[in-house]
Amino acid sequence: MRILHLSDTHIERVDSPGSRGADATGSLRLILAELRHQRDVDAVVVTGDLADDGSAEAYATVRELVGDFARAMDAPVFYTTGNHDERSAFAKVLGSGHLGVDGTDRAQAPDSVRAAVSTVGGWRFVTLDSLVPGKVYGRLGAAQLDWLGQVLSTPAEHGGTVLAFHHPPIHLDLSTTQPVFGLRDADALAEVIRGSDVRVVLTGHFHLQLCGFLASTPVWVTPGVVNRIDLTTAPGTERAVRGASASLVELGGATGPMFHTFHARDPRAHETVYELDEERTRQVVARHADLD
Ligand SMILES: [Fe+2]
Repeated sequence: MRILHLSDTHIERVDSPGSRGADATGSLRLILAELRHQRDVDAVVVTGDLADDGSAEAYATVRELVGDFARAMDAPVFYTTGNHDERSAFAKVLGSGHLGVDGTDRAQAPDSVRAAVSTVGGWRFVTLDSLVPGKVYGRLGAAQLDWLGQVLSTPAEHGGTVLAFHHPPIHLDLSTTQPVFGLRDADALAEVIRGSDVRVVLTGHFHLQLCGFLASTPVWVTPGVVNRIDLTTAPGTERAVRGASASLVELGGATGPMFHTFHARDPRAHETVYELDEERTRQVVARHADLD
């Protein structure tokens, strides 16, 4: 099973430098162009923050650009929500988030959350919705985790299950923001997937690549399409630089899962697009860190 994993496209209604400090549509076009030589791709996964502004126009842009790319790869696309996304606009344009090669919706999601399940070559793809409106952190909630438990109670036909959602259930302590803005109910998720056929958990949100484990299951954080968070900065500060990236995830075989990161060729790569000093970073954390 070969998956191209993208995340955090942060497309806006009007194509402009915008709040991420980079040309979001340009970054997405660039990384998709760089991925054009990939072969034998079974699925494309995009783990949230598709739209920076939650607008239907932004989802339509993502659907068109990623959809055209996936059609050329002859692969279905699995989209999830992120903290910047807006559920109703997402649903209006992307339905359940599981789109076939021809663009048709291949699954169903309840009204409450954009969570869905469908299969590719016997492998099961489950997307979850970790969006908490108005918050940067994520939470899956008891109802969604109960549903996931029911789905996982029957193993997939072949291979196993790929779980995809936005907020990582792992974090690095050297980042000020990661521990505060990750998935808040990671422990509850760990209990649900422990001993199941989940072979990998695919996430985004942090705009950098990171690998870890949850209940003995590999967790992959793919770097962002729109920009890259650079953790070489001084403790307590945050810097984002240009650098559209994506991942290849290979499952199965004797050595899977394997993860590889692609970086788009960009003569301006590594240029700073925004920088938050200690005070500003503290303010951002304080504003969004409340537990409810
Ligand atoms: Fe995010």
